[in-house]
Amino acid sequence: MTFQAPKGVPEYLPPRSATFLAVRTAFATMALNSGYSYIEVPVFEDTELYARGVGESTDVVTKEMYTFADRGGRSMTLRPEFTAGVMRSTLEHGLHNGQLPVKLWTTGPAFRYERPQAGRYRQLQQFNVEAIGTEDPAVDAETIAIAWSGYQALGLTRVRLLLNTLGCKQCRPAYRAALQDFLRALDLDEATRARIEINPLRVLDDKRPEVQAQVADAPLITDHLCASCKAHHDRVRTLLEDLGVPWEDTPRLVRGLDYYTRTTYEFDHPLLGAQSGIGGGGRYDGLSEDIGGPSLPGVGFAVGVDRIILAVEAEDLAREVPPRVAVYGVPLGEEAARRLFKLVHELRAAGVAADMAFDGKGLKGAMKGADRSGAVYAVILGERDLAAGSAQVKHMESGEQTAVPLGELVGTLAGRLAG
Ligand code: HAM
Repeated sequence: MTFQAPKGVPEYLPPRSATFLAVRTAFATMALNSGYSYIEVPVFEDTELYARGVGESTDVVTKEMYTFADRGGRSMTLRPEFTAGVMRSTLEHGLHNGQLPVKLWTTGPAFRYERPQAGRYRQLQQFNVEAIGTEDPAVDAETIAIAWSGYQALGLTRVRLLLNTLGCKQCRPAYRAALQDFLRALDLDEATRARIEINPLRVLDDKRPEVQAQVADAPLITDHLCASCKAHHDRVRTLLEDLGVPWEDTPRLVRGLDYYTRTTYEFDHPLLGAQSGIGGGGRYDGLSEDIGGPSLPGVGFAVGVDRIILAVEAEDLAREVPPRVAVYGVPLGEEAARRLFKLVHELRAAGVAADMAFDGKGLKGAMKGADRSGAVYAVILGERDLAAGSAQVKHMESGEQTAVPLGELVGTLAGRLAG
C-alpha cells in the first residue's frame, strides 16, 4: 500500500519550494524592517476562541473548522487563521502592558475544510502581520504598505488593493438597519433572507448574478460613516497616496471574518481566476473584548503564500533555482572520501555551503553531482592528490583547475567565494 498526501493539502518540493521560501522571505524582510517581532503561536487552540473571535455566523466557523476532542475531552480546533491566536497570546502574556503598539508577525499553515480547487486548499499557508494597541490610521497604512512592498519585492506587477471601511460600533448599527430594510424588500430565497437577519453585509458579497443585480442600489457604508470613521478612512488613504500605494475604493467589499471594523481590504491578482484573493486584512477594534479582554484596538493582514506562488508563476517570475551549495566534493577512493568528508564539514562550519558525492561514486558520476548541485567549485581528491597533500579545485564554469594544499583549502575557497 502506498500513501498520498491528504486531499486539498499542497506540498512544495524542490525546486518549486525555493519560490515558497522566497515569498516568505520577501514579506518577513519588510515586517522586520518595519519593527515587527516574530511570534510563534499554537497550531491548535480552544474551539471557543475561534467561535468568539472569528464569529459564529462565518463560513469559517460553521463549516470549515477542523475540530476534535482531545483525550481529555476538550474541544480543540486547528487554527483557521492567526489573528485570534495572536490576540489571545498578547492578552495572556500581557504584551499590551508594555509599549504600544505591540507589533508582531508570524507565518505557517492554517486549516479550513473547504472544497479543494486550484488555489483553494484545506491546509493553506499564511504570512501574517498584526499591530495591537493602536488606533492610529498610520498603522493601518503601515501594515498595508508592508504587504504591498512584499508583492513588489517579488516583482509582481498586477496586484490590486481593494479598500473599504466597515465603520465602528457607533455608525455601523444604523447602516446595518438601513441595509436590512433595503434587503428585506427584495425577492430573495429563504437562506438568503435568513442571512439578512444574521449578517446582512454578507448578502452584498453573494456572487450570484440575480442577487448582484438586486443589490446594485443597496445603501453603502461609505454614506453612513460617523465623523471619526470618515476622518480615519480619509487619513489612511492620504498616507497611502503619500507612499505611492495605489488602491481602488470598493465600498461593497465584505470580508469572510466577523471581527473587522473600520479599514478592511483585500489584495487581488487578476490572473488567478476564481481564487484571486492573495491577501486581506483590516482593523479589528472589538476582537479583544469579544474574547474576554480589555478594549484594545488592532490592525493587520494575512497574505496567502500558496496563491502568491501561483501569481509569481502566472507572471512568469518563478525564480531561477538557487544553487544548493557553493562547493562540491568529489572523492576518489575510500581514504579520500574520509579526508574530504572532514574538509566538507570544516567548510560548512566556516560558512561555505558544501556537499559531496557519496556511495563511492566514480569520477563521472560524482562530477555529474557537482554539476547538478550548482556548485561554483568542485574539489577533486584522488589517491595521487592525497599523497601530494593537495586537492584539485575546479572552477565549474570555466573548467580552470588548480592544486591547493589540503591545509589551505578551507581558507582559499572561503576567500575566493567571498571575493
Ligand atoms: P483571510 O482573508 O481569511 O484573512 O485570509 C488571508 C489570505 O489567506 C487570503 O487572502 C488568501 O490569500 C489566503 N487563503 C485563505 N483561505 C485559503 C485557502 N483555503 N486556500 C488558499 N489560500 C487561502 C485572514 O485570515 C485574517 N486573519 C487576516 C488578518 C490578519 N486580518 C487582520 N489581521
